[in-house]
Amino acid sequence: MTTEYDLIAADYLKSKVNPIKKYSEEFTFFQVLGNVEGQSILDLACGDGYYTRQIRQAGADPVIGVDVSAQMIQLAREAELKHPTGIRYEVADVAALGQLDTFDGVTAVYLLQYAGDAAALRQMMQTAYDNLKPRGRFVTVSGIPDLTPEHIRVQAQYGAIINLLGPATDGTRIETTLKTPGGEVRFHNHYWSQKTLEHLLHQVGFHTLTWHPMAVSPEGYRLYPPPFWSAYLEYPGITVLECWR
Ligand SMILES: C[S@@+](CC[C@H](N)C(=O)[O-])C[C@H]1O[C@@H](n2cnc3c(N)ncnc32)[C@H](O)[C@@H]1O
Repeated sequence: MTTEYDLIAADYLKSKVNPIKKYSEEFTFFQVLGNVEGQSILDLACGDGYYTRQIRQAGADPVIGVDVSAQMIQLAREAELKHPTGIRYEVADVAALGQLDTFDGVTAVYLLQYAGDAAALRQMMQTAYDNLKPRGRFVTVSGIPDLTPEHIRVQAQYGAIINLLGPATDGTRIETTLKTPGGEVRFHNHYWSQKTLEHLLHQVGFHTLTWHPMAVSPEGYRLYPPPFWSAYLEYPGITVLECWR
C-alpha cells in the first residue's frame, strides 16, 4: 500500500528548517520528555527517524521506531546504516501494531490526527497504552485540538496553510501545506476535539493527561526576537500532550 508520506518523504524533511519546528516543536517536545537516559522508548509515526535518533542520542536504549510509510522507514534505515546507533525500525500501521513489548516511554511526534475515524484513533491510543510499562508515559506532539479560524489565520503567517475541508467537527479532513525552502509540501490529516481525545485516552486507560503549552528555545529567541513569536504562542498550531498509564 502506498501512503501519502511515501510520495512526499523527501519534501517533508525540508520542512524541518521552519523556525517553528526547529526552535519550538523540537524544544518543547524534549522539555516535556525530559531525561530518557537508559529508558526503553517506542517512537510511533517516527517518519525518517528525525526524533528517534535524537531520543537515542539522549541516552534512551533500546529505541524502536515504527511508521506506516515504507519510504520514510527506508530513509530512517539508510541513516542508521550510515551512522549505526542500534535503533530498530519497523513498517506498520500504529492502529494495527498491537504490543511489541513494554517500554518506559512511548513517543509520537504527530500521530493521532492521522486517524481517519474514531475507531482508528482509539486503536492508536490503545497501541500506545499497551506498549507502556505500568506508570509509563506517552508523550505526543499533536495538532492543536479545537482548531479555530484564529489559529488557522495565525499559522499562515508562519508558513503553514491549514485548510479545514468541512465543518469543525470530529473526523473532518484537514489539508496542510507547509512552505519549505524553494517549495512546499502538502499532506492530509483530521480534526479531533479535545473532548473526544480526552474521552478516548481515558477509555483506553490513561489516567492523567497534561496539555503543555508551546515554548521557544533560547536560541529561537536569539535568532528571532520575541515579537516574531507572540502570535504563534497565543494561537499555536500544535501542542505537546503527556499521558500517564
Ligand atoms: C508529520 S510526519 C512526522 C514524522 C516524524 N515523527 C517527525 O516528526 O519527523 C507524520 C508521520 O506519521 C506517519 N503515519 C501516519 N499515519 C500513521 C499510522 N497509522 N501508523 C504509523 N505511522 C503513521 C506518516 O507516515 C508520517 O511519517
